[in-house]
Amino acid sequence: MRGTGTAREYMVRPMPPALSAAELRDANTRYHDVAAEHYDSKWGIDFGELGQSQVSAKVRKALGREPGHYARSLEIGSGTGYFTLNLMRAGLIGQATCSDISPGMLETLKGNAERLGLEVRTEPADAERLPFADESFDLVLGHAVLHHIPDLPRAFAEFERVLAPGGTVLFAGEPSRYGDRLARVPKRFATTVAPLWRRAIGAGPAPPADGGEPDAALEGVVDIHAFAPAELSRVARAAGFQDVRVTGEELLANWFGWANRTLEATADPEDMPWAWRLYAYRGYLLLQELDRRLLESRLPPAIFYNLMLAAHKRPSG
Ligand SMILES: C[S@@+](CC[C@H](N)C(=O)[O-])C[C@H]1O[C@@H](n2cnc3c(N)ncnc32)[C@H](O)[C@@H]1O
Repeated sequence: MRGTGTAREYMVRPMPPALSAAELRDANTRYHDVAAEHYDSKWGIDFGELGQSQVSAKVRKALGREPGHYARSLEIGSGTGYFTLNLMRAGLIGQATCSDISPGMLETLKGNAERLGLEVRTEPADAERLPFADESFDLVLGHAVLHHIPDLPRAFAEFERVLAPGGTVLFAGEPSRYGDRLARVPKRFATTVAPLWRRAIGAGPAPPADGGEPDAALEGVVDIHAFAPAELSRVARAAGFQDVRVTGEELLANWFGWANRTLEATADPEDMPWAWRLYAYRGYLLLQELDRRLLESRLPPAIFYNLMLAAHKRPSG
């Protein structure tokens, strides 16, 4: 899911003329409210050791160093808690506040936090209008959310306002414009070979949707931006942030993941052999490691599928 904005310079897909920023926010709320119930299983969100190590690794990569401990954190578009709950379990954050425009997502997050025995404050909020006092957090973070926000300069001004002097802003999992285009190749390939693949693994075609799926018409609307690295840096600098760092992650892992996800979407989940699931899971982790060790430090951020941004608010005085 990716999305529109008022600042033309970072818009890739122009805002559909019929939809105002308010309508886009409403579409995001409705889409994610419906997605909330099955979100964790759909995206394989994990709150165990794997989830903790994946999220901690992303924070480390975004910062370019070992993370410190953040006493008060605010997550924007927290969804079901993938980042905050894993970072709490990994001991990187203390008091956590999770905000999201979708109350449904926050309900699922509360259930996850309860199951994990974690105490988290939740607050329904649009990123462009945060209901928090000035300078009340040490870390403002988010994963896969910036591309849904219509007015990014306004949202970044809010992140800066609620951060304490010297505080950190960190976002990961944002779609890169070129990475997004490159990922269409494995998706197209997988669509073409899907019937052959289903025959090979002995799976029938996917059953018709049961109505519990997020509205397909909204899916094309909720993703507003895909970014070039320089555009992300510019919006953070314009809001007054310093030490702005934009990096890329996942190339081979992403192609592999999208190809498999596209194939799987065409098959009856009941028929999916266990060996296939294991291959898809292990293959993804292996390629993620290959990306990290070999490619991420050598290739330009723009070609990776995901972009990460880290920066600091100016210290006081
Ligand atoms: C792709 S999901 C990511 C959820 C979670 N961060 C994760 O990584 O699993 C995007 C989230 O951003 C939220 N969102 C969309 N537009 C928003 C806005 N304007 N302000 C705050 N949250 C928003 C959605 O409701 C959704 O929970």
